[in-house]
Amino acid sequence: MNEQTKQFVKAMETVGRIAKETLDHVEKFIRVGITTDELDAICHDFILSKNAVPAPLGYEGFPKSICTSVNNMICHGVPDDTVLEEGDIINVDVTPIFNGHHGDSSRTFIVGKTDVIIEDLVDCAKQAMWEGINILAPGVKTGDVGHVTEKFIRSRGFSACRDIGGHGIGRIFHEDPFVPAFGRKGKGFAFKPWSCITVEPAVNQNKTRSVEIEIPNSSITEIMTEDHCFSAQFEHTVLITDIGFEVLTL
Ligand code: MF3
Ligand code: CO
Ligand code: CO
Repeated sequence: MNEQTKQFVKAMETVGRIAKETLDHVEKFIRVGITTDELDAICHDFILSKNAVPAPLGYEGFPKSICTSVNNMICHGVPDDTVLEEGDIINVDVTPIFNGHHGDSSRTFIVGKTDVIIEDLVDCAKQAMWEGINILAPGVKTGDVGHVTEKFIRSRGFSACRDIGGHGIGRIFHEDPFVPAFGRKGKGFAFKPWSCITVEPAVNQNKTRSVEIEIPNSSITEIMTEDHCFSAQFEHTVLITDIGFEVLTL
């Protein structure tokens, strides 16, 4: 590993830890009655307290510091005065920037008690992410990750959202390769050692199309399920090493 690679890995480990700590912190505040705006402020302040800045704020005109995607929102939910209710699920997606490097991670939280099927959906999304992560190594392809995640999601009776996926990450928030939650074994882009990607399959309760909702003055859109079924997602930033992988946001 050369000096430049060493510094890159160290910077990604540091920002990955900040992303993890932000999610650990906000988790303590998830309860009936809190608004998504309050969760945004909690994460914003926490990220600044770590001498980092929230990447989403102002990114392609996105107006807030985190994404909060509730129930039928697949991703990119904009925090607002929405009050969390018993049985809701909420994905909180955070991306601090520290020392010019991005760490991107999300978790779906259950508010109070919810239906068994929704608990199962959330569990499926988490497991699907791990199915994708656990095969990572140099030379493994984007299609391999898509294949294992899609197969797993199907086996649980849910469907992989085809419109969003993981991405390369580092000094840039979103870069190639696109890492879909569906695909064919052996197809696509081969991961390179000492690069970082995210694995973030979104799992829909039903096989459904996505609908996009414009965010004023932004090229980012909120993405929802067309049939209003629930959708869950988990995300880690992962370093591809010379022999395997290291999860940076764990
Ligand atoms: N964190 C999201 C991802 O996982 C991207 C959010 S972009 C934003 O890729 F502008 F909506 F914040
Ligand atoms: Co991401
Ligand atoms: Co994210």
